[in-house]
Amino acid sequence: MKVAVIGVGSMGRNHARVFSELPEAELVAVSDADAKQADAAAEKFGARAYTEYRELLEKEKPDAVSIAVPTVLHEEVGVAALESGAHVLMEKPIAATVEEGQRLIAKAKSAGRKLMVGHIVRFNPAIQALKQKLAAGELGRIFQVFCRRAGPFPARIRDVGVVVDLAPHDVDLMRFLTDADPVRLYAEIEQRLHTDHEDLLWGVLRFADGITGSLEINWLTPTKVRETLVLGERGLFRVDDLTQDLYFFENAQAKDVQWATLQTLKGVSEGSMTRFAIPRFEPLKAELQSFLKAIQDEKPVPVSGEDGLAALRISLALVESGQSHRVIEFNN
Ligand SMILES: NC(=O)c1ccc[n+]([C@@H]2O[C@H](COP(=O)([O-])OP(=O)(O)OC[C@H]3O[C@@H](n4cnc5c(N)ncnc54)[C@H](O)[C@@H]3O)[C@@H](O)[C@H]2O)c1
Repeated sequence: MKVAVIGVGSMGRNHARVFSELPEAELVAVSDADAKQADAAAEKFGARAYTEYRELLEKEKPDAVSIAVPTVLHEEVGVAALESGAHVLMEKPIAATVEEGQRLIAKAKSAGRKLMVGHIVRFNPAIQALKQKLAAGELGRIFQVFCRRAGPFPARIRDVGVVVDLAPHDVDLMRFLTDADPVRLYAEIEQRLHTDHEDLLWGVLRFADGITGSLEINWLTPTKVRETLVLGERGLFRVDDLTQDLYFFENAQAKDVQWATLQTLKGVSEGSMTRFAIPRFEPLKAELQSFLKAIQDEKPVPVSGEDGLAALRISLALVESGQSHRVIEFNN
């Protein structure tokens, strides 16, 4: 399959590297408005360089493209790629606004091409293992999901605040793990160091089925933290996204309790802790492979445009709640 990458900045370069290593893909070209970036990536990964992405689409006619240009350009570049006949993997967030995201989805439908959104956290091996365990009922009912994504200030991100940049990761993760959408949310946001946008968020979400969600996101923490906690009837799962570790803290009261009696469980006590041995792999590689496989097998992509749009819509609602100090309700 002939593939290309449009936008080879800090994220797009990784797409180009991974595609160049995949036997099922041939990286034919890269494009970047900055000629130096385009040339450097093209030389490193054995592809042709373009500064005009429209010229790339016309001349190379790639079967599939990854788009990693700044978020405000996602719609423009995505529409052009879909119109050229390419399947599109769009970096997250799907677009800068809900309307732009909707237009991208509509274009993919009318062009009969696949649109996948790069919600990479789903492809972390520890998250994949956690999802399998939840789906197998190993936790029983889920009570709460807590995501922490904090770290130092990224000087290069100027166009959006921390919520639009990072919250789509966690909001998508919460939807993925619970198979539910929020019915309402509330957020507190703060702007401490960023000149134009918020750089701190505390969010509280209520999902269908009564699951509660908590989000702690900021660019003010002098060490990188990526943690997901899922609490349920049988205990607590903890994922460290950085080390790709998955732990389970067992509720000793639920040990050996069968399904029928789990409903009548009355207590919680400290049981054993397990760290699962999970084979580690690069999430981006798994993401791009699943995109190519969906195209080859003519199957739905694992993260759809609608998933990307839901993550964006909820992230923007968090900003709105933080600005207006109001609870936002959703009619799903
Ligand atoms: N999945 C993740 O974890 C993750 C991480 C970082 C960034 N991202 C997403 O990737 C996208 C890019 O972010 P980044 O951090 O790599 O930004 P970046 O600024 O490092 O890279 C963007 C690149 O796009 C190029 N560009 C701008 N206009 C262009 C055009 N018209 N045609 C071709 N190239 C153009 C720029 O020259 C730059 O090299 C954003 O949407 C961001 O949200 C996702």
